Amino acid sequence: MDNEARWRDVDSHLVGELVEEDDALVGARELGRERGLPAIEVAPNQGAFLALVAQMTGARRVLELGTLAGYSTIWLARAVGPEGRVTTVELDPRHAAVARENLDRAGLAYRVDVEVGPALDVLSDLVDAGSDPYDLVFIDADKVNMAAYLELALRLTRSGSVIVGDNVVRRGAVVDPTSDDPSVLGARAFLHALGNDPRLEATALQTVGSKGWDGFAIARVC
Ligand SMILES: C[S@@+](CC[C@H](N)C(=O)[O-])C[C@H]1O[C@@H](n2cnc3c(N)ncnc32)[C@H](O)[C@@H]1O
Repeated sequence: MDNEARWRDVDSHLVGELVEEDDALVGARELGRERGLPAIEVAPNQGAFLALVAQMTGARRVLELGTLAGYSTIWLARAVGPEGRVTTVELDPRHAAVARENLDRAGLAYRVDVEVGPALDVLSDLVDAGSDPYDLVFIDADKVNMAAYLELALRLTRSGSVIVGDNVVRRGAVVDPTSDDPSVLGARAFLHALGNDPRLEATALQTVGSKGWDGFAIARVC
């Protein structure tokens, strides 16, 4: 058995033992496939991880960049509870429409604002509007702008807020000095900014599993 097959098997085992994916979550992923959206949502155990981070930090206001079909949004919207709110930002109106349908079916639409547009613009507008701070920011849109998203996230958070960035390892390409892939360069700039900003305490972890070899970074705003 090759490594990737074993990673997938272990992920299946972990999900089977630990993660309860109900009809709304399974249905959200399936509707995304039916409508031709790419299969790039977080894995079930990663969704559960995000929800645990939200719950452990008592997050009530969550900002998500990159909605796709709303799979991770459902995990986060459940984690914030009925009084909580999630703002999720999606560039592609077709993705946003599928996400709205999924959130509606999950009975969570009232907790979630789906903002359609480039995340750089939407975040700048939130800053300009004097938005209340978010407790948790999940950065999972394009990777090119990750460092810019971090800078804006710092203007939309408070001391103690948590920022999570996904896909920062990219099958190890993040350390390939010859790579000119804009997503790799974006992830690298994001990690550099996380590690060199005195306003943040951060770490990153590599992951393997059903989504291959990747990793996420997690930071606390000082
Ligand atoms: C990895 S997917 C998000 C997956 C989702 N968080 C989940 O786990 O279910 C990335 C999404 O970001 C969106 N996106 C790409 N560039 C964007 C941008 N500049 N602003 C906002 N969203 C963007 C894509 O259309 C795509 O739907």
